[in-house]
Amino acid sequence: MAREKISKIAYKTLQQGKSIAGLAHKELSSRIMNLLLPDENFRNFNIDKNLLIDIQNSMDYLREEDWNDAENNIYPLKLLFDEPWLRYLTQYPKIWLDMPNTWERRRKQNFKDLPKNIDDESYPKYYLRNFHHQTDGYLSDFSASIYDLQVEILFNGTADSMRRRIIKPLKEGLNNFSNRKKSSLKILDVATGSGRTLKQLRGAFKKERIIGLDLSGSYLKEASRFISDLDGDLIELVKGNAEKLPFEDNSLQAISCVYLFHELPRPVRENVLKEFFRVLEPEGILVLADSIQVNDSPDFIQIMENFHKSFHEPFYSDYIKDDINSKIKEIGFNNIISNSFFMTKVWSAIK
Ligand SMILES: C[S@@+](CC[C@H](N)C(=O)[O-])C[C@H]1O[C@@H](n2cnc3c(N)ncnc32)[C@H](O)[C@@H]1O
Repeated sequence: MAREKISKIAYKTLQQGKSIAGLAHKELSSRIMNLLLPDENFRNFNIDKNLLIDIQNSMDYLREEDWNDAENNIYPLKLLFDEPWLRYLTQYPKIWLDMPNTWERRRKQNFKDLPKNIDDESYPKYYLRNFHHQTDGYLSDFSASIYDLQVEILFNGTADSMRRRIIKPLKEGLNNFSNRKKSSLKILDVATGSGRTLKQLRGAFKKERIIGLDLSGSYLKEASRFISDLDGDLIELVKGNAEKLPFEDNSLQAISCVYLFHELPRPVRENVLKEFFRVLEPEGILVLADSIQVNDSPDFIQIMENFHKSFHEPFYSDYIKDDINSKIKEIGFNNIISNSFFMTKVWSAIK
């Protein structure tokens, strides 16, 4: 009992420490930016006291859920303490060195500053841009090498706790196939990025076949390095487009997709959902996680608006008003459930 209490205090302390570090970085970097490259369009927005209390409460709720899921063996407790400190240490100076380029791109509203050697024909048009003003968009090894820590800072250290919200509904959905051998079940993580979600998934699903898919070869290479020494069977990585998944109809038992939808134009969101429906086996489970939306998190509208003003996120303001629940239903999914945890909304649905 005492050991559990100490572990919980350690977990909360770690989370609070990451949150302070994230806030301190943001405060410092925006002060330096305002000093070196002042830009009237990007003044810091002031958070009022009530909003600050709401943010704090919602972070506490997220941590509580994360802790409870681990305690209930949905995933191992050690995932909560699994921080790649060495990786962060190498990423952090790169983030600082790259920051002036990001500020400059933002000031000039230059969203098409991509590596010259990429083959434009291989990617959808909406993808060929500097999302978040990020150097090289998603199209270089450099971008992939600092992405993780950037997300961690953006969410004040809560990114993995939010990604882990997909695990419980995935487990519940896969119970529909409890009469089969676990090693025969396939879980596809779409837009897997640099591998953070794959690591959480492998922690929770030891025997199932896990596949990560992304459009960016560079992000997949980074993912491959990140997951290379994980216990369990090999995780497969596939370069592909979520709109045209390289899988047979009815061939997968579970699909997860984290932080993709807010970066897609509305018609593409719909295509992707239809594609998920096609490749899932009947009774298969879909779990989506993405930004919170206006309807269920009205108190956080100020944060949502500031996000798409400060970062280059051209489809975000449409996304936060998109009725994803209805779309999922129209496509044919059942048992649709959605819940919000701090900055992330999670949908689950059964084919
Ligand atoms: C915001 S990142 C999310 C990455 C990861 N899921 C995470 O939790 O950090 C969006 C990812 O979606 C990928 N992506 C965007 N459009 C895609 C598409 N049509 N098909 C596959 N991947 C796509 C990008 O390459 C990028 O890795």
